[in-house]
Amino acid sequence: MSSLLEIKDLRIRFQSKNRLQALLDGDSDPFIDAVCSASLKLNSGETLALVGESGAGKTTLGRAIIGLNQPQEGSIRFQGQELTRLPDRAFKAFRRNIAMMFQDPVGSLSPRLRVRSLITEPFKIHKIQVKDLEAEAERLLNLVGLPPSFATVYAHQLSGGQARRIGVARALALSPKLIIADEPTAGLDVSVQGEILNLMNRLQEETGVSFLIITHNLNVVRHISHRMAIMYLGRFVEYGLTDDIFAQPLHPYTLALLSANPSPDPDQPKSELQLEGEIPSLLKRPTGCEFHPRCPFVRPDCSRITPVTSSPRAGHSLACHYPLLKD
Ligand SMILES: Nc1ncnc2c1ncn2[C@@H]1O[C@H](COP(=O)(O)OP(=O)(O)OP(=O)(O)O)[C@@H](O)[C@H]1O
Ligand code: SF4
Ligand SMILES: [Mg+2]
Repeated sequence: MSSLLEIKDLRIRFQSKNRLQALLDGDSDPFIDAVCSASLKLNSGETLALVGESGAGKTTLGRAIIGLNQPQEGSIRFQGQELTRLPDRAFKAFRRNIAMMFQDPVGSLSPRLRVRSLITEPFKIHKIQVKDLEAEAERLLNLVGLPPSFATVYAHQLSGGQARRIGVARALALSPKLIIADEPTAGLDVSVQGEILNLMNRLQEETGVSFLIITHNLNVVRHISHRMAIMYLGRFVEYGLTDDIFAQPLHPYTLALLSANPSPDPDQPKSELQLEGEIPSLLKRPTGCEFHPRCPFVRPDCSRITPVTSSPRAGHSLACHYPLLKD
């Protein structure tokens, strides 16, 4: 499989308060690193899931790929082309191949537009001439399993599941190579979640599209992703094949996340590990291993020495001094 997207050592900084406020609050720096040293590879036809607690930097990373956040350092290569230093016009040509489904599908759909306009809007945005918009809308509705009559429905009349399907149809309009889906199943009933995941799986089989899924829901990750990256305070603490990580998480944070979200499979062993403590502020990152104040396996040197990223097996990386290797 060829590599579609390759991100290396990405760093995205934001100013979180003004300098005076930072001084008054005793912060040495008013900037935060929402994403730091993030590296990943996504192959054509594959799905990668980004997981981590709220504020981990998942959406920030996704937005950087479509040019909505500017990285301060690092590289984003798409089909071999470096995107971070591309002039606007050239970037737009690549941008057509990447679609984003935003976090709040109903809120991101204009309520007064009909479905036909919503799903064919990408053609207008990218100034692409289409002979028959009506036929194009019908094709897209068909792809996501909705009847042609939906073309005349208004966005505010859609149920959560239908809005999500319309979001998928809109994302598919320009036949992208990559779809970034931010929380594609949030707020849906479990049965509707399953329908959306099955739809995404089917579309991947039919079109070879790659997905970058951003989610809190580990059942979604297990169901749909080939690889997963676990983010903590903007860094990837573990990255590898989803099956390997679910079978044997090596980083204590991964284990804690998986334990907080027990498998529906009764044959899977249950773990009692609880994730305790507050997520630290990005303005006051812990020293050494940044997970150490919450880590159930912490040892004395963890608060002093920053773990380097190691690769315990091919295609798997993690940043921990004491991986949870089985004896
Ligand atoms: N434009 C911005 N300006 C300043 N800070 C920002 C901006 N965008 C994001 N942040 C901060 O960057 C950090 C990462 O935010 P991000 O939205 O990427 O997290 P997330 O992992 O997607 O969280 P969630 O699961 O809640 O959606 C947060 O501390 C957030 O407040
Ligand atoms: S380096 Fe230490 S504190 Fe950090 S995750 Fe590993 S065991 Fe826990
Ligand atoms: Mg987010």
